[in-house]
Amino acid sequence: MLSIGLLSTATIAREHLIPAFQSASNANLTAVASRELSKAKKLARQLDVSTTFGSYEELLESDEVDAVYIPLPTSQHIDWCLKAAAAGKHVLCEKPIALKAGEIKKLQRAASKHGVLISEAFMVTYHPQWRKVRDLIASGKIGNLRQVQGSFTYFNKDPDNMRNIPKLGGGVLPDIGVYPTVATRFATGQEPLRVQSRVDFDPKFKTDCYASVRAEFKDFELSFYISTQMSNRQTMVFHGDKGFIELSAPFNSNLYEGDEVKLHNAGHSETRTYRFTGVNQYRLQVEAFANAVAGKKSDVFTLEDSLLNQKVIDAIYKASNPKATNSARWQKV
Ligand SMILES: NC(=O)c1ccc[n+]([C@@H]2O[C@H](COP(=O)([O-])OP(=O)(O)OC[C@H]3O[C@@H](n4cnc5c(N)ncnc54)[C@H](OP(=O)(O)O)[C@@H]3O)[C@@H](O)[C@H]2O)c1
Repeated sequence: MLSIGLLSTATIAREHLIPAFQSASNANLTAVASRELSKAKKLARQLDVSTTFGSYEELLESDEVDAVYIPLPTSQHIDWCLKAAAAGKHVLCEKPIALKAGEIKKLQRAASKHGVLISEAFMVTYHPQWRKVRDLIASGKIGNLRQVQGSFTYFNKDPDNMRNIPKLGGGVLPDIGVYPTVATRFATGQEPLRVQSRVDFDPKFKTDCYASVRAEFKDFELSFYISTQMSNRQTMVFHGDKGFIELSAPFNSNLYEGDEVKLHNAGHSETRTYRFTGVNQYRLQVEAFANAVAGKKSDVFTLEDSLLNQKVIDAIYKASNPKATNSARWQKV
């Protein structure tokens, strides 16, 4: 059993990762740290966890944990991953693990120097629905893929939420822009060559709150929009010359009409539906992480993958620069 410590009492931990640790077959949550000891104690009591700390540093010094889960505000991910690695702890860190691709290289060096695993928590890549999409595309079920379309939107104008605070790493691209890119890269095995984009910022928060993106891959195009100030929606469609694939809940599994992948034929006269009811992608993520730490076969998300995904996000920001000289504003990834 991998013994995991939690750095902070974050919402994502309380809602999704703690249940995942509790149900995982090969990992256990054994310690909780918060900036305030009373918060750590309160959460730990509910979980029947006895070890608590009033600072993240103390948890890193503890021999009771082999690994840490980091769901801190995004701007703190790199620092705490580096500190955890230096303390000899394996790390599962929330997405996005970095705000710039260059920072991920520091993590690669630290992981190798200290002999630890650092993995970004891209839960979608563990969901069997995405493996199904990948297999359907690879087996030619939709013929030649030409167009991928996606959306991911929600409404949140809370000034105290980290997504609306620049110094905490807020912004729609770091928060959810990373999903259409990671999912497309995962499902197709291809990397984008260049991107065009429009990125709008909230005048008060100064964080990006809307983006629309067009990305060119070798054989197909991806276009998607994302927003923190639109009504809830999430879609992903993969369209080829012999059919198309759509997902009902591509990112927040179990939302909307449950987890369904629909394969439509060329004439749109036949649809095959694959259902994934009851899958917990967070539990699968924790188990894959623990297997990788144990040296077992695992398809854990690697830092190389993180680097490639963050390069796309960096290029999207660059492409949106209205002062760019290239009139079409294509930005190489
Ligand atoms: N994979 C997913 O499905 C998913 C979903 C949501 C969020 N996320 C990611 O998870 C991370 C956390 O998101 P969240 O919504 O859970 O955040 P959150 O509820 O605001 O939690 C962040 C935690 O960080 C700690 N913290 C340390 N310094 C802080 C500061 N200066 N301001 C505020 N909090 C501070 C706080 O814990 P203590 O006070 O206890 O120390 C706080 O509870 C983000 O990177 C986000 O992108 C991932």
